[in-house]
Amino acid sequence: MSRNVAIDFIALKDVVAAGGKAGKAEAADTIVVFAGEGAALSANTAKLTKPAAEQIKRAVSFAKFKGKTSSSIDLLAPHGLSTDRLLIIGTAPGKDASAPQDFPALGGFTMGKLAHARHAVLVLDQPDFTSDAAADVAMGIELRAYNFDTYKSKKKDDDEAKEAAAPIKILIACADPVAARREHKSRASIASGVKIARTLVNEPPNVLTPVEFARRAKELTKLGVEIDILDEKAMTKLGMGALLGVGQGSDNESRVVIMRWNGAKSSKAKPVAFVGKGVTFDTGGISIKPAGGMEDMKGDMAGAACVVGLMHALASRKAKVNVVGAIGLVENMPGANAQRPGDIVTTMSGQTIEIINTDAEGRLVLADVLWYVQDKYKPTFIVNLATLTGAILVALGQEYAGLFSNNDELSTRLTVAGTATGEKVWRMPMGPAFDKMIDSKFADMKNTGGRFGGSITAAQLLQRFVNNVPWAHLDIAGTGMSSPSSDINQSWGSGWGVRLLNKLVADHYE
Ligand code: BES
Ligand code: MN
Ligand code: ZN
Repeated sequence: MSRNVAIDFIALKDVVAAGGKAGKAEAADTIVVFAGEGAALSANTAKLTKPAAEQIKRAVSFAKFKGKTSSSIDLLAPHGLSTDRLLIIGTAPGKDASAPQDFPALGGFTMGKLAHARHAVLVLDQPDFTSDAAADVAMGIELRAYNFDTYKSKKKDDDEAKEAAAPIKILIACADPVAARREHKSRASIASGVKIARTLVNEPPNVLTPVEFARRAKELTKLGVEIDILDEKAMTKLGMGALLGVGQGSDNESRVVIMRWNGAKSSKAKPVAFVGKGVTFDTGGISIKPAGGMEDMKGDMAGAACVVGLMHALASRKAKVNVVGAIGLVENMPGANAQRPGDIVTTMSGQTIEIINTDAEGRLVLADVLWYVQDKYKPTFIVNLATLTGAILVALGQEYAGLFSNNDELSTRLTVAGTATGEKVWRMPMGPAFDKMIDSKFADMKNTGGRFGGSITAAQLLQRFVNNVPWAHLDIAGTGMSSPSSDINQSWGSGWGVRLLNKLVADHYE
């Protein structure tokens, strides 16, 4: 279970008092203060910690604490203060002196140090600790508090586990707590969206089938999101032969879920659209994958998870925009009725696809969902997310998602939003020479283009289902799952893309 964190903001002046009294921080078991270059403390912080000044000086010197980001020192039972622990965290730039302060990461780093605390006060007193920064610190705390242990049966009696899950109250002391509290409201919506996405990615594939995924997406109704679920009968009627072909080998039925949030002044204003690949498990089908690491393919729905998390974030913060979120949910299994290499399927668009490799299934799912969304909703742009190719991991590792687009403006906006949120994207080339690689002898196209440029030919196939609308495809096979730990994320499923796309919408479409 995630740790239950109750965050509020208080005025800096209410915690800063001379003579060992820490005002409203008196009751806290942990006081956290922040140091700049050379372990420098602000005037307020120095005043607050004055009774322990000598102890701090010795600790700083012994630990060679320089006030750098991602470093800290800890004083237990600090002299003359009523708190049990004084934690000093660095904020000065580390090796990369030009990097701006990453406030969510600072919050996450801080949270990582608060395992034993029940009541902490964070004293944010540096010139760049604006109300926005304070809210970002709070978001980082919330993201770090996430922990997925739904299936650990021992957690209830294990003392250590109990300790790790104990609730914590965190007061953030800053210059303008009213403004910070207001800013934090939307950040809390975003953090919840990220956590919803993480959980969907972390859930095991026997639990999170397409039908169960659709049921979870339906919970967004509570926030005023309108949900339509297409079952196999409806999809057959629409002619979604590519998506249905992927799911036909599985006993678990396929679904498409459409989520609509109408937050713009006029409900008739054209929507923006997000589309996600939701392969709840990808065995590869008849072109079956090797056994090693196949369990990771439960995360092959990270694109769909992101779209659900994003819709949650947007609806929960009442974003002033009309949005359509659409996810294609299938399970790719071998079986007596499974799709074969050599099969030719007819997509909703009418175009036909020859199946060369049943493991190149994500593009088949997206082909029909992309078409459906354009046909029905005429969006101003479409961004789709998919754990589409292993090749993108070879190209960009786990640092960047691959960005493929027919539109420079949308690409720039995504790139800028990526730098700002730390969910970075890197634009990859597309073009007719790559497109030719998926021409087929027997059908309009084939579903793989060979080993070379594997992520690009996958994107070219998607583009054949995009008609004159600004479109971007994010290949998140490297960023959405199996994620390296960071200050704000310790979870296998990262919830990647929720913050990025929320920012894209907030900056340009509200
Ligand atoms: N879901 C996989 C891609 C993937 C790989 C996601 C690693 C996350 C981590 C996708 O469906 C797939 O199997 N792609 C094939 C395509 C190939 C058969 C043309 C691949 O990347 O090998
Ligand atoms: Mn596959
Ligand atoms: Zn897949």
